[in-house]
Amino acid sequence: MATGKPVLLSDLVSIASYVPSNYIRPVSARPKLSEVLSSDGSIPLIDLQGLEGPHRSSIVGEIGQACQTHGFFQVKNHGIPNKVIDGTLRVSKEFFHLTERERLKNYSDDPTKTTRLSTSFNVRTETVSSWRDFLRLHCYPLEDFIHEWPSNPPSFRHNFVVCREDVAEYCRNARELSLRLLEAISESLCLETDYISKAFSKHGQHMAVNYYPPCPQPELTYGLPAHADPNAITILLQDDVPGLQVLQNDKWIAINPIPYTFIVNIGDQIQVISNDRYRSVLHRAVVDRDKERISIPTFYCPSHDAFIGPAPSLIDDDHPALYRNFAYSEYYQKFWNHGLATETCLGMFKN
Ligand code: OGA
Ligand code: NI
Repeated sequence: MATGKPVLLSDLVSIASYVPSNYIRPVSARPKLSEVLSSDGSIPLIDLQGLEGPHRSSIVGEIGQACQTHGFFQVKNHGIPNKVIDGTLRVSKEFFHLTERERLKNYSDDPTKTTRLSTSFNVRTETVSSWRDFLRLHCYPLEDFIHEWPSNPPSFRHNFVVCREDVAEYCRNARELSLRLLEAISESLCLETDYISKAFSKHGQHMAVNYYPPCPQPELTYGLPAHADPNAITILLQDDVPGLQVLQNDKWIAINPIPYTFIVNIGDQIQVISNDRYRSVLHRAVVDRDKERISIPTFYCPSHDAFIGPAPSLIDDDHPALYRNFAYSEYYQKFWNHGLATETCLGMFKN
């Protein structure tokens, strides 16, 4: 911000009855909400019960099929307890209901900061803003970052460890689920079970707590415009307000939240490792006229020093390597500078 004082959306909207001009997309780039289809049945719901038991090969097959045809799936019986989910959603909501002064203690528009509150996507580079505030947290290794996390909401001030501990427990659980899914994805590609895990070097895990305030004119703007995720896999926790839309066969599909299930999507790094067998699919978030919405994606990723490229066993004369090898740090930096665009970053790494 030129003035030096950040404007969080959550403070702006309490006074707005229309969308300020810097949030309005050009007519050709608006969400066209009347053309969006309803999700029912179009994104597979996979039951992970028995993934480590006798049903492994059939569940691995379902996961592989979903990665290939949809790039998205939902999971139930995933092993993350309901009370951990409830606690994380509750603390997240409380954080965004803190006073502006409290919240702004965490503000930064520098994407390299490991803990920060910001707004839109990248206020340093973008020309049109998005209807979102977000708290970004690094979550692995937890002990390297947890001391940076916000020490509020105030209801926990006398014992803020408790507040962090709810979210920390969620992070540990989300990592475990990510690792199980990455093993299943490796196997579904006929790679060694630990192939992807080894390719990720020391591994990374970040979380965004996205806060989408009610919006007086949802058809003019986005919570997040169409993008593909730059990481490996994303595990999305959300409250009961719809907002996520996924591009399938050139049509936008609205995903209806199912309580206590997660939405999993393939990010660019799995598309690269799979040499395009699996798809990192465009998705976006739209906003609601009356209700605020919280969504909490966990971005599981390689560590910055990891070198990523198509798995050698997936390359042959009929399937030449589609991407060059690169350091994940290079990819991630390009993603933040590039901005959210339907032209994904993958194109910059093609052979
Ligand atoms: C993201 C994202 C979707 C949502 O943060 O990358 O795609 O529903 N979020 O908030
Ligand atoms: Ni995303």
